[in-house]
Amino acid sequence: MRVGILGSGLMGGKLGTLFTRAGHEVIFSYSRHRKKLDDLARSAGRKARAGTPADAVREAEALLLAVHWSRLEDVLKQAGDISGRVIVTCSLPMNLTDTELVVAHTSSGAEELAKLVPRAKVVSALGSVPSEVFFGVFEARDSGSRPSML
Ligand SMILES: NC(=O)c1ccc[n+]([C@@H]2O[C@H](COP(=O)([O-])OP(=O)(O)OC[C@H]3O[C@@H](n4cnc5c(N)ncnc54)[C@H](OP(=O)(O)O)[C@@H]3O)[C@@H](O)[C@H]2O)c1
Repeated sequence: MRVGILGSGLMGGKLGTLFTRAGHEVIFSYSRHRKKLDDLARSAGRKARAGTPADAVREAEALLLAVHWSRLEDVLKQAGDISGRVIVTCSLPMNLTDTELVVAHTSSGAEELAKLVPRAKVVSALGSVPSEVFFGVFEARDSGSRPSML
């Protein structure tokens, strides 16, 4: 599968790397530093590359949204038309200081995202998992006692 990463920081960088290691084609995008995306793609493996958000969308069957909530509108604008794509979001609707939810109780980040991209299929996942655990869980996937994550 081709996966476009929108936001290549702690979450997007690690998950994109693991998607690559699992055999998928990955395009890392959305950083203020193109070199960071290039380095990430190089270290992730042969099936990864760097691009713009529009590149990531154009060639992807699925997208991972992994930006701070405050960057949502900007990354979607740069991504362009995502109609028909599955977009998995781990982005939590937090304020700028990450101290409070800006959407809660009557709606959710995923529901608000779905309103912005009504023709995409929004899936909320991984938002309650700290990025620090991803590599360890992936490495242990074939071990006798497989780790589990809620
Ligand atoms: N970290 C976690 O453990 C964790 C766990 C669960 C959920 N989440 C949620 O996942 C989302 C992503 O978190 P994260 O920790 O991965 O964030 P992060 O490490 O800060 O990564 C954010 C990405 O957005 C890019 N970015 C930020 N401002 C930008 C701008 N002005 N122009 C272009 N690119 C920009 C960053 O690129 P550069 O910095 O290279 O420019 C980076 O690629 C958040 O909504 C967070 O709440 C995080």
